[in-house]
Amino acid sequence: MADNQIFIFDTTLRDGEQVPGCKLNTKEKIELALALESLGVDIIEAGFPISSPGDFESVSEISKIIKNATVCGLSRAVQKDIEVAGDALKHATRGRIHTGIGTSDSHIKSKFNSNREEILLRAVQAVKWARNYTDNVEFYAEDAGRTDNEYLARVVEAVIAAGATTVNIPDTTGYCLPHQYGEKIAYLINHVKDVDKAVLSCHCHNDLGLATANSIAGAFAGARQIECTINGLGERAGNTALEEVVMVLRQHADLGLYTNIDQTQLNPMSKLVSDTMRMPVQPNKAIVGANAFSHSSGIHQDGFLKDAQTYEIIRPEEVGAETSKIVLTARSGRSALAYRFKNLGFEFNRNDIDVLYDRFLQAADSLKEVQDGDLKKIAHQYTEQTN
Ligand code: KIV
Ligand code: ZN
Repeated sequence: MADNQIFIFDTTLRDGEQVPGCKLNTKEKIELALALESLGVDIIEAGFPISSPGDFESVSEISKIIKNATVCGLSRAVQKDIEVAGDALKHATRGRIHTGIGTSDSHIKSKFNSNREEILLRAVQAVKWARNYTDNVEFYAEDAGRTDNEYLARVVEAVIAAGATTVNIPDTTGYCLPHQYGEKIAYLINHVKDVDKAVLSCHCHNDLGLATANSIAGAFAGARQIECTINGLGERAGNTALEEVVMVLRQHADLGLYTNIDQTQLNPMSKLVSDTMRMPVQPNKAIVGANAFSHSSGIHQDGFLKDAQTYEIIRPEEVGAETSKIVLTARSGRSALAYRFKNLGFEFNRNDIDVLYDRFLQAADSLKEVQDGDLKKIAHQYTEQTN
């Protein structure tokens, strides 16, 4: 295992599936799990087995089918949850139990009516129960983002001593700033005895739009697993988007961190998840949105047509997207218009384009986007008049 590999833990089928309207049946979950495995994710969180008989079945069936990725089931720090998760994972080639408890004072007092010492004991007990089923145990310190670092370090040290092999540091409420989240991971690395016996994991929510930035800050500080979802789906504002972290690490190879993901499958995977979960992707979504490789303003189009790198840091084919688009709107320029005419088989000289551009602008002011059909009409009228 190379030190600089970032393990990709995909939770589309668990945190992502919690999105209202995104519920999946077992057949759909299996189809997505197979696609995630082919994409190259290291760990698939397949569900929360105790939550419903359907989810138990999904985790169990996925465990039988997936051979290369680790299959993970979620549980609370409750004996029955852990037993059921262990049972759902019993056929897995590589199974992992993900168990945990809230560690922030807010969770300790309001959710559990408890105190720090008791929660620490419950955390340790949960890991010990999980170790009865597998030696691959991940512990989550829920709301770690708002947990006091000194106490968090005590919890992390205790669960590692109890046998946790991965420790998840969730920014459950998406509260942290990137430098704070990075400092939290660095604090744990510097203060937890035997921290190198476990992989630290980032699980960041997007309530302030910082989930990807926080996960990257965590990895930069030494975490080696990132928990994420396709299209950034997840509770409330969602989780870290898998496609974003993968491409950040590829674009910034100088960080020296890498993943096993085949990035050419990112767009097909996004579409598969969107279609299966019946959840459209916002057009301006990084990497996988419909506009991620569209150029619409005249200045950008002119630069792009001279050299794509002026306005694109990723080639669409690198991430399995369709070719870049030159979209024609009232903000577009002459070079884009000439380019689109040429693609339609019309060769016009500079003077022609000057006249055609005025006609185009008249059409563009009344249409949101000028399409091929509109352009053909303009071109035919012009050639009839000038011949
Ligand atoms: O956001 C969170 O804290 C979670 C845990 C259950 C890992 O999803
Ligand atoms: Zn979460």
